[in-house]
Amino acid sequence: MIPIARPTLGPEEEAAVIEVMRSGALAQGERVRQFEEAFAGAMGAQFAVATCNGTAALYLALLAHGIGPGDEVITSPLTFIATANAIRHTGARPVFADVDDTLNISLEAAGKLIGPKTRAIVPVHLHGNPCDLRALSALAERHHLAIIQDACQAIGATIDDKPLGNFGTAVYSLYATKNITTGEGGMIISNDPAVAQACASLRHQAYSSRPYIHEAAGYNFRMTEMEAAIGLVQLRKLPRITARRRELAAAYDAAIGDAYVRPRTLPGHRHVYHQYTLRVPRSEVQSRDSVREELERNGVATGVYYPLPIHLQPPYLVDGSGVSCPGAERAALDMFSIPVHPGVSDGDCALVAEQLNRIAGQVKLQAR
Ligand SMILES: Cc1ncc(COP(=O)(O)O)c(C=O)c1O
Repeated sequence: MIPIARPTLGPEEEAAVIEVMRSGALAQGERVRQFEEAFAGAMGAQFAVATCNGTAALYLALLAHGIGPGDEVITSPLTFIATANAIRHTGARPVFADVDDTLNISLEAAGKLIGPKTRAIVPVHLHGNPCDLRALSALAERHHLAIIQDACQAIGATIDDKPLGNFGTAVYSLYATKNITTGEGGMIISNDPAVAQACASLRHQAYSSRPYIHEAAGYNFRMTEMEAAIGLVQLRKLPRITARRRELAAAYDAAIGDAYVRPRTLPGHRHVYHQYTLRVPRSEVQSRDSVREELERNGVATGVYYPLPIHLQPPYLVDGSGVSCPGAERAALDMFSIPVHPGVSDGDCALVAEQLNRIAGQVKLQAR
C-alpha cells in the first residue's frame, strides 16, 4: 500500500532526541528557543513562539489579538475542525464564508459577512495552497480587522517569493502528518512584539518577570526540548521536502487526465502540497468514493480533507444554521487526496496516475 502520509524522519532526528534525553533538560529551554529563532527566520517573521500543538497556537494567537466573547471571526468551513474550535474556545463566534475553486475562503463571501461584531478573519491555506492573502489583507485593513493565518498545512508556502510571515500573524502545526513534524507541536509567528510576548507568556501560565508571580490565568501549552530538537533537524530538511512534494505534484499535473480537476493555485502563489487534491466532477459516471475504493483495491491509499464542512458538524450547527456554503459542500463530496509525501517514489507516482487514468476510462463504476 502507498500510504497517504509518512514522516521524513531518520538517524539525525534520533540522535537529536537521544542527545536531549542524555542532557536531562527535557522541558522548554534552549532548544525550543533555537527552534523558534530558526523557524521565524525560515517563515519570514521576526518572532516565533513554539507551542504543544497547532490548535493551542491558533487559540493563543486569537487571544493575543484580543479576540473574545461577543466577537465574530470569519473563517472557512472547509478546514480541520480545530480552526473553528480555537475560535469557539476564545468565546467568539466563528462565521463561515464559502470557498472558491481554489478550495480557500472566497474574498467575495468573506466581504459580505463583515458586520459590526466582526473582529478578525482566519484564512486557511488549505492543503498547503496559499489563499488570496493580499486581497484578504486589504479587505481586513479597510474594516480594521485582524488577520490570523491558519497556515497549519502550509509550512514553507510563499506568495510572490515571500514566506507567509511577511503577511502578518500565522500559526503552524507540526503534527505527525504535516510536511515537517515534531510528533505534536505548533508555532505562532508574528512581526508584532506585543502579540509574540502575549503568546509566550500565556503559553507558560502567564509568567511575568517576577518568578511565580502571574498576571493572568494562563495555560501550559509548552513544547518539549525533544520536540524542538526534532524540529530543528526537520526545518533543515524542509527545502528538500518541499522540493520533492512539488516535483511529485508537477508529475501528477502532467500525467493525470482531464477526467479529474487538478489543484488550482493563484499566480505568484507557491503551494507546498501538504495534500495533492483532485476533484471528480459530479457529471462523471464515477463518483469520488468509487474512485477511492478502486485506488485502494490497487494499493493506493487516499484521504478526504474534509468530508463534512464545519457549519454542518454537530458542535457548529448553531453557528452554522442558515449558513450557505454550497462551494464547500460540493467540494466535500467530490474531492480526495492522493499520496504526495517524499516517501512516494517516481514509480509510485507513475502508478497512481496510471490507475487514476485507467479508472476514469472505465465506463461503469459502482454508483454512489
Ligand atoms: C488547517 C488546520 N488547522 C489547525 C490544525 C490543528 O493543528 P494540531 O493538530 O497541531 O493541533 C490543523 C492540523 O491538524 C490543521 O490542518
